[in-house]
Amino acid sequence: MFVGRGLIRSGFFFPEDGRRFAVTDENVATLHPLKAEHTVAIPAGEETKVLDTAELVLRRLAQAGAERGDLVAAVGGGVVGDVAGFCAAVYQRGLRVVQVPTTLVAQVDSAYGGKTGLDLPEGKNYVGAYHQPASVICDTSALETLPAEERAAGYAEVVKTALIAGGPLWSRVRAGDAVDEATVMGCLRTKLAVVAEDERDAGRRQVLNLGHTVGHAIEAATAYRRYRHGEAVAIGLLAALRLSGKEALRREVGELLAANGLPTAFEGAAVDDVLALVQRDKKREGGRVPFVLVSAPGEVSHGHEVAPGDLRAAVEELRAG
Ligand SMILES: NC(=O)c1ccc[n+]([C@@H]2O[C@H](COP(=O)([O-])OP(=O)(O)OC[C@H]3O[C@@H](n4cnc5c(N)ncnc54)[C@H](O)[C@@H]3O)[C@@H](O)[C@H]2O)c1
Repeated sequence: MFVGRGLIRSGFFFPEDGRRFAVTDENVATLHPLKAEHTVAIPAGEETKVLDTAELVLRRLAQAGAERGDLVAAVGGGVVGDVAGFCAAVYQRGLRVVQVPTTLVAQVDSAYGGKTGLDLPEGKNYVGAYHQPASVICDTSALETLPAEERAAGYAEVVKTALIAGGPLWSRVRAGDAVDEATVMGCLRTKLAVVAEDERDAGRRQVLNLGHTVGHAIEAATAYRRYRHGEAVAIGLLAALRLSGKEALRREVGELLAANGLPTAFEGAAVDDVLALVQRDKKREGGRVPFVLVSAPGEVSHGHEVAPGDLRAAVEELRAG
């Protein structure tokens, strides 16, 4: 893994064996082009994270003659990382993927850990595979072109990760410090440490889903159009903190999120629809959806059952208007 400025333009740090097939999106293709044998640029946005796009990418790889020894470079945000990672996992039963994250969400979270996911209308990330990247090349200068709303969306994952980590990372975040390279490093170290304990999500890794159970349901209930992933996670974090019974921490996190341009309530979906989608969460086991709850920053645990009435109340208070 490499973190630094100017890494995409320099072209160094890539594995040298095998040809490079870049998968990117139409925005990133013009802003941060990567030298590659062949480039596929998919339309930008969450609506693209579907099986049709994966088929298109797989066919483009086949038409361009990609072989088992080649590698896919996923240059973009979490959507590109998930689509390209999934395609690399299944193309000829597996090609190496190098993640080159260009959004804050991707640099602090989605580029590491090897999860890939595509959405179905029935649920977020319902299709996917584990496929660890051969390398991650995190060029922090790419964030300079990121629109403010996308940076804000990434901030929600920073707050989530800082709550999981506690300690110095949480201290920096709660002090309102700007997100710099040290914060990105703190987040990615936290994520890697959690993943190293439980790669296949059988236990501890589920803490990374803090705020995501309600967040994913809000994304799906609004047809993946109204909220960025990070925005929905921001709202979901507040639900998780309410369910954790941590009023003061919930208030503090709400203020941090709002100060960074994130929503602290949702609109465009009925509470009942969000609750129905929570029940379809793919972490459901034996009909029960486990929740990730917070005792204190640095003390986050998974597998909690919550009473239906408490969940309804936590979602109802987040409905705007
Ligand atoms: N696999 C995982 O472990 C994991 C973890 C967290 C999130 N995710 C997924 O990540 C996705 C969200 O990722 P995201 O927030 O990065 O969204 P995204 O990939 O849709 O990118 C957001 C927008 O920013 C643009 N963009 C990207 N880099 C840019 C740059 N440097 N300058 C200017 N514009 C740029 C993109 O074109 C897009 O319009 C969700 O689908 C979520 O489920 C996956």
